[in-house]
Amino acid sequence: MNPIKHVAIIMDGNGRWGLKHKNSRNAGHKEGVRTVEKIIKASVKNKIKFLTLYAFSTENWKRPKKEINFLFNLLESFLLNKIEDLHKQNIKLKILGYKKFSLKLNKLLNKSEKKTSKNTKLQINLALNYGSKSELINAFKKVHKNNKRINEKNLVKNLQTKDIPDPDLLIRTGNTKRLSNFLLWQLAYSEIFFEKKLWPDFNEKDYNDIIKNYKKIKRNFGNI
Ligand code: FPP
Repeated sequence: MNPIKHVAIIMDGNGRWGLKHKNSRNAGHKEGVRTVEKIIKASVKNKIKFLTLYAFSTENWKRPKKEINFLFNLLESFLLNKIEDLHKQNIKLKILGYKKFSLKLNKLLNKSEKKTSKNTKLQINLALNYGSKSELINAFKKVHKNNKRINEKNLVKNLQTKDIPDPDLLIRTGNTKRLSNFLLWQLAYSEIFFEKKLWPDFNEKDYNDIIKNYKKIKRNFGNI
C-alpha cells in the first residue's frame, strides 16, 4: 500500500456554491472554511504529515476588492479563533507565497507561524499570494546569483517548499481539471484526483475515499 505523507488541495468551487445556495459568492467562502476545518481533522486522523491548501493565488488579486477583503477577513478570524487550538493539537502553520498583505495580517501570519513552528503532528502549508511560476523564476535567480550550477538539487533548495517533501496526492474540487499555477515543479509525480463536488460540499468521507483509492495505486516514478 502506498504511504501518504503530503496531500495538496486546490479548494475550488466556493463561489459557485455560494451563488447557488445563498446568492452570494462570499457565503461560499465562509462555508469553505468549515470544510477546511473538517479536512484538517481528517488529515490528523489519517496521520498525514503535510497538508498544503491553496487559499489565494497571485492571480486571485484580479477579483473584486470586496471579495478579496472578505477572504482576508475570513482568514484573519480563522487564525484569531483557531491558532491556539491548532497549537494545542501540535499542528504547525507555514505560509507559502509572499506576505504582501496589510500590516495587521502580515503580523498575525508571522505570529501564528512562530507560535506553531516547533509542532510536529501535522504541518499545514497555507498558500497565500502564491504562484508557482514566480516561485520558480525566483529560485532560478537565486541559484544564478549564488554562482551555483542550475541543477535539480540547487533549484529545490531555493523553492519556498525547500523543507517539504513533494505532494503524494493532489486533490482539486469543483469539477475543473487544471493546475492553476499551483506547485508546478512539486507536483511532477503526484497522483491527481479531480473531484466533482464543490469545496463546501466536500466532506471527510470523500477525502477518506480518495486516500483509500490513492493507496491502491501502483506508483512507478518512471520505472516499471
Ligand atoms: C476557490 O473557489 C477558492 C478560493 C480562491 C479561496 C479559498 C478560501 C477558502 C476555502 C477560505 C479561506 C481559507 C482559510 C484557510 C481560512 P472559487 O471562489 O474560485 O470558486 P468558483 O470556481 O466557484 O468561483
